[in-house]
Amino acid sequence: MPSTPKSVPSALPQLQVRKAIIPAAGLGTRFLPATKTVPKEMLTIVDAPIILYVVEEAVEAGIEDIILIQGRGKTAIEDFFDTSYELEDKLLRDGKSQLLERVSRVRDRANIISIRQKQPNGLGHAVLCGYPIVGDQAFAVLLGDEIMIAETPEQNTTRRLSQVYSEHQASCVAVMEVEAEDVSKYGVADVIPMGVGLFEVRGFVEKPKPEKFPSRWALPGRYVFDGKIFSYLKNAKTGINGEIQLTDSMNLMAQEHRMLASTFAAKRFDAGDKLGYLKANIELGLRNTELHDDLAHYLKGLVP
Ligand code: G1P
Repeated sequence: MPSTPKSVPSALPQLQVRKAIIPAAGLGTRFLPATKTVPKEMLTIVDAPIILYVVEEAVEAGIEDIILIQGRGKTAIEDFFDTSYELEDKLLRDGKSQLLERVSRVRDRANIISIRQKQPNGLGHAVLCGYPIVGDQAFAVLLGDEIMIAETPEQNTTRRLSQVYSEHQASCVAVMEVEAEDVSKYGVADVIPMGVGLFEVRGFVEKPKPEKFPSRWALPGRYVFDGKIFSYLKNAKTGINGEIQLTDSMNLMAQEHRMLASTFAAKRFDAGDKLGYLKANIELGLRNTELHDDLAHYLKGLVP
């Protein structure tokens, strides 16, 4: 459902990376039974679905074409970004059009394109599904269940990675330092420090064993890739969990091309995990001016 993007009124410079892939095809088994009929990306954080926060980050980073990779039963996501004529007309007549303003803001600034991933073959395969739209140019990947909340436009994680890409003409992925006992939950980068918050990458390992990991710098699900990643993904072999892992292709690319990793200042929530989802609701609820006082009062009352 492409719409014509309008020019972006932003004080920040326009960057080279204009396309983003948002994989949102996972089965959401960690959130059953809720996700039996509702895609996990449509679960609500305060008053907006998880996917809207992710799309907002992309749009605020100057992305113009957003490619949603969806699976069966996920049509609610593309419907969400489509126009809802009856509802929008009624809200307009009732003087409440601002209630949908957040959705129309991203819809007016970017093309939302959806592609179906026909089999759940893993994250690497989901990203490869975006190739017909992205082609050989640089692009961002934002995982559809990870939320990054930036206090300022400069803190936007995808913008930061795009800036590094523009400066160094090398793929750049976000990394965060995690506790040793959590390393095996993530893809992990083997890095050499380069400057403040910036690293050269020697390789990546998906879900390393707790006793053998290259570092504690884990991948939180934000990437900017050179188009070359697709040639690795096209030839990718099945990896851990019987899936085509994005991290495996990243690792092969890092052996042959320069790759960088960057820390980020935004606050990250793993909204695809029950605890992360609850934390996101509480923290973003506290940041909401209408809810802050009552929610803070309620939370204080819960803790003796
Ligand atoms: C995926 C990636 C992994 C990354 C993680 C972030 O794993 O494969 O490299 O660290 O997302 O959440 P998943 O959480 O889908 O198992």
